Amino acid sequence: MRVVILPTDQEASNFVADFIEKLIIDKENAVLGLATGSSVLLTYEALIKKYQSGEMSFKNITTFNLDEYIGLKPDHIQSYRHYMNRKLFNHIDIDHKKNYIPECFNKDYELSCENYESKIRQNGGIDLQLLGIGTNGHIGFNEPTSSLNSRTRVKTLTQNTIKNNSRFFENNEIQPSIAITMGIGTIMEAQNIILIGLGKHKSKAVADLVEGPVSSFCPGSALQNHGNVVVVLDNLAASNLKLYDYYIHTEKMYQEYMC
Ligand code: GLP
Repeated sequence: MRVVILPTDQEASNFVADFIEKLIIDKENAVLGLATGSSVLLTYEALIKKYQSGEMSFKNITTFNLDEYIGLKPDHIQSYRHYMNRKLFNHIDIDHKKNYIPECFNKDYELSCENYESKIRQNGGIDLQLLGIGTNGHIGFNEPTSSLNSRTRVKTLTQNTIKNNSRFFENNEIQPSIAITMGIGTIMEAQNIILIGLGKHKSKAVADLVEGPVSSFCPGSALQNHGNVVVVLDNLAASNLKLYDYYIHTEKMYQEYMC
């Protein structure tokens, strides 16, 4: 696991955007796994800027989002489809027909999940999966005690996640408590994974993910078993890491000898 610690959220997000850009330069028809939430917003802004300045194009890119709320139609302002259109897709030259998000408005959820897994396979799998992390260590909506081999499925959200995400909802808005999420097994099949953690409130989950035991109680810790993971943190999110100095040193060595 490569752990990159940068002073600010902006620098961490720029690093992630540069990483995505490099992947797309190497493989212009890459398949990206994308995430929602606040941690990825500056990364998406940086990618939009790269597109607007002519630095990169997304026209041959296919995307698969991690998760979607059950009960929200794609045009609902709180749906992750709406979020992705608003925060990224509407601002770049991506083909909207190739932006997949779990279908949560058709009542046959099991079929939706199976179809999602097949679609990922038909597209050759995910080249790079972008992740955030929940304060309870979740990735996607794989809550604590999710099977580390889980596939795309319906998941009931914890009270902790519902409370954390309530900031996005107005008082009178219905907030879903179930979602379809890629499983941990699905995420682990991506060729490369990049996770961004920002802010002090993520520091415990980040420490559990990077340095804790591999345990379904911290779903993100499964990433310790993946060979190509980069964890990108701002200083606040890194503040609970026992080997903080070591990660700073190894990244310096990496930049000196590998770049
Ligand atoms: C959400 C999403 C995750 C996201 C995480 C962190 O509930 N399902 O994909 O990474 O929780 O969210 P945020 O970045 O807003 O802290």
